[in-house]
Amino acid sequence: MKTDIKNRADIEKLVDVFYGKVREDAAISCFFNDVAKVNWENHLPTMCDFFENILLSSGNYEGNPMDAHEKLHKKSEVKVEHFQHWIVLFDTTVDELFVGAKAEEIKQRATNIAAAMMHKAHR
Ligand code: HEM
Repeated sequence: MKTDIKNRADIEKLVDVFYGKVREDAAISCFFNDVAKVNWENHLPTMCDFFENILLSSGNYEGNPMDAHEKLHKKSEVKVEHFQHWIVLFDTTVDELFVGAKAEEIKQRATNIAAAMMHKAHR
């Protein structure tokens, strides 16, 4: 039975499954694998810190996603369609694994952040 997102272990599961899909995705994997050449061993814990901070107020993320994406966008244009696709993959993954108020919150927060990133890149 599915439960809500409760702790770091749940966030790790979400991040693992989501980026497992992203890494193999025909539309957006190139940004990670080819453009930024992401070191996944570092990126996955960073993303856990990020989501844990926004969802469970852990206070352990100090990066700047807006800056990171602005740099990425300068190297290779991240289009609105790419962001929309990211959101579909993210929402699908959350719904596959969890159900509840936190699950709804993380989808909403991610959508809002994606909207801010799109606005910054395409204003
Ligand atoms: C198509 C959409 C997206 C693409 C292609 C993308 C790609 C990337 C890449 C390549 C990096 C690594 C940058 C680097 O280390 O050089 C990154 C970092 C990151 N992304 Fe995204 N991203 C997307 C959407 C999002 C969204 C919607 C969020 C938030 C909900 C997000 C949150 C982050 C965070 C927190 C980092 C880590 C920044 C840091 O180093 O602290 N990304 N992204």
